[in-house]
Amino acid sequence: MPGRVKKAIGFLVSGRGSNMAAVTGEIAAGRLEAEARVVICDHPEAPALALAKNQGLPSVLIERQGYPRRQAFEEAMVRALRGHGVNLVVLAGFMRLVGPTFLSAFPGRTINIHPSLLPAFPGLEAQRQALDRGVKITGCTVHYVNEIMDGGPIIAQAAVMVEPDDTVERLSARILAQEHKLLPLAIAALDL
Ligand code: GRF
Repeated sequence: MPGRVKKAIGFLVSGRGSNMAAVTGEIAAGRLEAEARVVICDHPEAPALALAKNQGLPSVLIERQGYPRRQAFEEAMVRALRGHGVNLVVLAGFMRLVGPTFLSAFPGRTINIHPSLLPAFPGLEAQRQALDRGVKITGCTVHYVNEIMDGGPIIAQAAVMVEPDDTVERLSARILAQEHKLLPLAIAALDL
């Protein structure tokens, strides 16, 4: 659309990177109008780094232990993202809380995907929490990031039925399949 700023995405990842790949796949297929600019990863062994390399996507390794304080760590991430012209930050399996230094650099432009229907089951092992609690429906949520873990305003959700003899692995796989659809749709729906 004329005059409209294209979504220029920077991913923050710590692990597998399948949600990142789902988004870049939709971009490559021409179904999501956005550009993937850079991947920031805080873990040298993360499979997401190899995925980014295979896709020709620039990646930057920024490890927390390389910085004395969280502020300096976050400033390094902000510099890398700005250096690549990012205007939308997507946390996709980034295993850290982001703080005020980061959030004030990208106000209203940092989103996360979480494998539960928030506000239920924030934090780690959301799928296990859902099974342990005995809910019959769970799912995934894309939300804006604020300083509360998995606590920002909700953008989009998808529901997944829990089956009678579900395991964490099977339930996680079915939720993940929904995550891969939801995240690109939520990005498309954002009005930056
Ligand atoms: C996903 O389940 C996501 O919801 C959660 O961490 C997992 C990341 O998976 N925040 P991947 O790295 O995108 O494959």
